Amino acid sequence: MHLATSTSLSPTHKTKMLERVLSSRRGASHADEAANDDDEATADESKTKKHLPISFFTTRATNYFTRMGPLWPCLGVLFLVLLLIFSLIFNSRSFVCVSPYNNSVSRSSYFGFDGLESDFGSLGVPWCRSKHGKTVEWTTKDLLKGLEEFVPIYETRPIKNNMYGMGFDHSFGLWFIARWLKPDLMMESGAFKGHSTWVLRQAMPETPIISLTPRHPEKYLKKGPAYVDGNCTYFAGKDFVDFGSVDWGKVMKKHGITDLSRVLIFFDDHQNELKRIRQALDAGFRHLVFEDNYDTGTGDHYSLRQICDQFYIRGGGHSCFKDSDEARIRSKRKKFWEKAVDIEELCAPGEAWWGVRGYARDNFNHSNQPISYSEHFQNSRFVESILDVYWELPPVAGPSLTHQSRYDPARAQPPIVEDGRYGLFQRLGLTRLENSVFNGYTQMVYLQISRQ
Ligand SMILES: C[S@@+](CC[C@H](N)C(=O)[O-])C[C@H]1O[C@@H](n2cnc3c(N)ncnc32)[C@H](O)[C@@H]1O
Repeated sequence: MHLATSTSLSPTHKTKMLERVLSSRRGASHADEAANDDDEATADESKTKKHLPISFFTTRATNYFTRMGPLWPCLGVLFLVLLLIFSLIFNSRSFVCVSPYNNSVSRSSYFGFDGLESDFGSLGVPWCRSKHGKTVEWTTKDLLKGLEEFVPIYETRPIKNNMYGMGFDHSFGLWFIARWLKPDLMMESGAFKGHSTWVLRQAMPETPIISLTPRHPEKYLKKGPAYVDGNCTYFAGKDFVDFGSVDWGKVMKKHGITDLSRVLIFFDDHQNELKRIRQALDAGFRHLVFEDNYDTGTGDHYSLRQICDQFYIRGGGHSCFKDSDEARIRSKRKKFWEKAVDIEELCAPGEAWWGVRGYARDNFNHSNQPISYSEHFQNSRFVESILDVYWELPPVAGPSLTHQSRYDPARAQPPIVEDGRYGLFQRLGLTRLENSVFNGYTQMVYLQISRQ
């Protein structure tokens, strides 16, 4: 069994995990691994062609024209024209499939490729520090292999249009994590029509599932596609119990679970994540996935991303000063990315920017708590004290490939398939999916937690 905890891992795995220290969140390591990979799934000739050194051609050409004598000026002009044409073809390769509707051409020309996928100006991407800087076992190469396998599975999903539920990126993330960890029990809080239950089932065909959701997914069957699982215990309808009120001792006993580190819990219930983490810790669970890990100033519940957004983290902490670099960058990016927020939206009176305008939102934004900056700061210190691993799922592919226009790629991890790698995108089967399935990315996060 592969549940990646210090209690259940093999000694080799344990050593590997301990050795992987999270030295740089935005380093080139993963991208490099993918670029160096010779596998069919990862090799991408567009990348290599794009990087042929120009000096190689110019040196060869100069030598040749020198030998040609008086003909060289005409040939020189011809050569320059050809060079220009080649350069245009290779540099525009990633725009081959750009839709005129989502304005990504203008996005690209406005920010340049770097602006699409690198730092949020000088502000970076906030993240949560873990106790010992441990990170996950899997690499970009594993994710690419997983993608190749998952695309055909996703195409068979029973709920084709899962509006208000998970799209492709998070479905892949959940499937990948569940399959990697191989838990003895999977649990979800927030099932809606059952798409996430179906994803968990694809990852682990024999493993029992527990689903906590107020409305039973079978209710949706009357109106259209839904998924009800045969090996799932539903706490739904009149049997619904909130995650925080379940008698876990009793439920685990009933499922024959003695080691809680072999249970994977998936939260897609839009509750304050700090509340859920405390409840999970009290129950003794270790492996959690949060589907909606909203960025600061957005979303309907207080998220890990928001909690860890602090001045001492690179990319964290914000300025509400109207003439700041941040204000300028934000208003520029907001023109192109639907979910980007400008300084007016980010900051409430009193310059409260943390959470959502100084509030810790909860329960689909139905119950909110104003919090002071010092409470917000204490929350992050608490989270850091119990985090063993914090891993944000990267978007599956860059926006010029997926045509997504909602989340700002500069506030996300670098994508698994980078912009410009159309060949790879196509080989993985991702061109077969409709663009709309890529629009739901909200930094899904996998956590390992334990009390100190
Ligand atoms: C965004 S949907 C879940 C989408 C689903 N995971 C999917 O992949 O399609 C949120 C769900 O959480 C449910 N919900 C609301 N309050 C909840 C609670 N306290 N505990 C568990 N689920 C809750 C809602 O009824 C809704 O079905």
